[in-house]
Amino acid sequence: LEVAPEAMLADVLRNQLGLTGVKKGCDRGDCGTCTVIMNGEAILSCLTPVMQAAGKEIITVEGLALEGKLHPLQEAFIQCAAVQCGFCTPGMLLSAKALLDQNPNPTIEEVREAISGNLCRCTGYEKIIDAIMLAAKRIRSGGGEEKGVLAPAKESATRIVAKSVRRVDALEKVTGKAIFADDLSFEGMLYAKVLRAPLPHARIKKIETGEVEKLEGVRAILTAKDIPGENRIGILGGPFKDQPVLCDDKVRFVGDAVALVAAESEEIAEEAIKLIKVEYEELPPVFDPLEAMKEDSPKVHGDSNIVAHRKIYKGDVEGGFQKSDIIVEGSYKTPFYEHAFLEPEAGIARVDEAGNITVWACTQFPSDVREEVANVLGVPFNKVRVIQTKTGGGFGAKLDISVHCHIALLAFKTGKPVKLVYTREESIMTSTKRHPFIIKYKTGATKEGRILAVEAELIGNTGAYLSYGPAVLTRAAVHATGPYDVPNVKINAYTVYTNCCISGAMRGFGVPQVAIAHETQMDRLAEKLGVDSLELRLRNAFTVGSVTATRQVLEHSVGFKKTLQQAQEITAKWRREIHNEEGSTKRKGVGIGVMWYGIGNTGHPNPSGAFVELLDDGSASVLTSCAEIGQGSDTVLAQIAAEELGIDDIGRVKVYSGDTITPYARGTSASGQTYITGNAVRLAAIEAR
Ligand code: FES
Repeated sequence: LEVAPEAMLADVLRNQLGLTGVKKGCDRGDCGTCTVIMNGEAILSCLTPVMQAAGKEIITVEGLALEGKLHPLQEAFIQCAAVQCGFCTPGMLLSAKALLDQNPNPTIEEVREAISGNLCRCTGYEKIIDAIMLAAKRIRSGGGEEKGVLAPAKESATRIVAKSVRRVDALEKVTGKAIFADDLSFEGMLYAKVLRAPLPHARIKKIETGEVEKLEGVRAILTAKDIPGENRIGILGGPFKDQPVLCDDKVRFVGDAVALVAAESEEIAEEAIKLIKVEYEELPPVFDPLEAMKEDSPKVHGDSNIVAHRKIYKGDVEGGFQKSDIIVEGSYKTPFYEHAFLEPEAGIARVDEAGNITVWACTQFPSDVREEVANVLGVPFNKVRVIQTKTGGGFGAKLDISVHCHIALLAFKTGKPVKLVYTREESIMTSTKRHPFIIKYKTGATKEGRILAVEAELIGNTGAYLSYGPAVLTRAAVHATGPYDVPNVKINAYTVYTNCCISGAMRGFGVPQVAIAHETQMDRLAEKLGVDSLELRLRNAFTVGSVTATRQVLEHSVGFKKTLQQAQEITAKWRREIHNEEGSTKRKGVGIGVMWYGIGNTGHPNPSGAFVELLDDGSASVLTSCAEIGQGSDTVLAQIAAEELGIDDIGRVKVYSGDTITPYARGTSASGQTYITGNAVRLAAIEAR
């Protein structure tokens, strides 16, 4: 193989040999997704100059299954459900193989050590460790079955639903065949780069691109004035569309997109970006939401930084505090939180002769991407097709637009396929974060430990643009009392603009932030009352008939008390068993934290659709835009369709998902796909039957 002497092994394996099972999550040797085995040792191929590989044996994930037979590790990863989005899986498998080749009988600590350089953001590692231990056992026993490694199958009245089945997408993920956006390429493809703002708040006075135009290999340079349609995006739509695709009047955070370039190579595009000259007039920035709420603060948009105020009032909160024997007050702050999905944002767009545009990209919400791209291009929705590629984690941040509109604009302009892959730095700079909250909380209770009143003020820093900001604050307000029966409630929640990076959806959608506050309040209250903190929660727990702060009556099953009672039994046992050694620096204890969470969008419709087609041979197809991002929806939807159609083998149900030529589906968020798209599939399957 002829290689450029300065090339890195990962790039040669991916680009020259097409071994795209080798992933690039950071290109810095931090994430482990590029792990391969070189002469028996697990190495990071993104840091290994290809010259070091001369004459050596390299094993990538594509070389694990021999003669069509999966390696015991691949089998075990599938069986133990150690695969979710699959982006970490190839590197994880190879680190594990290098270990087992040298030590087929490792301890759990040795397994942990062997995979300590491989990050996984989806699984929590436990199932991966189970899988490696299972594979080791099988290798030692020559492939025989062992008992006690996996939990026994549960009894169930259903045929397929609620049964443990193999993920329908696991095989392609353990063999390196799963295609993520950066693994795709097209003939004549161009490479895009984005010029990003170096300042948190500044007016754009002038953009000069003359130097770039002279650079050979540059095929397009775009600024805001080149956008044919609407230069505003925002996942909540309507008045909440506040983010320019390319900044026109001013930049509002470090990383805001200012200009785009498409060139014949990534290197030329990188060079071209540096030649664009932007003249800025610096404006005072505001980073602290409390400062931003003041009248005389610098304004990020319009004439107020307070963009939404949600109120949840129930009963007479003042009266509740007057009747209380004990009042506990607390202030809490939660930080920004980076999702750090292992696959950086990536996509390719292509336009056909008729002007139809196709976008292949990672996303949690293909249907929304279609609408945003169409609006930005100024074309009808049906001209745009979005095909979700395998998505290497999202956790909320891949609900928003990233590469999509930029590649679509460049493809539209050049008529060529255009690819854009964010660097890890760019991903962290521009992706949405968990909202930092400032919370003031007051709880009043009787001396018997019955909560009478809760008052809270929640301030969420949404950064430069809204993304899901108002919805996150609404959800936080709705859940602010925790899962407790509180007769008198007063919650005020504010979404506030600053010049920080953008906040948006992140697992829990505002609820984890308020849970930190309401749970600490419960512990403080328990301490003051001198009662066990779990017992205090039990005395106030929601049950059937409880009325929430929004006056929703919980009419059906509420399993909370039962859960707490079981926790009480288990923790009583732990407490008896825990011994803290004299003089040890490690102390053990038992703690409790509780959170409640409603699935689906808060206060918005949650539409999802599906087609179910029953074929002449009794097999079936399910078609839906629902995005599988590793959470397992393709498998669950196949199970649901099979159950309703009376098909015993989910291998006979094929799910075509994440493609907008299928029916519209809500985004993959808020734990909603099983229930919402799942019911669409169920109803369609019933009709088909
Ligand atoms: Fe490990 Fe997604 S399965 S990062």
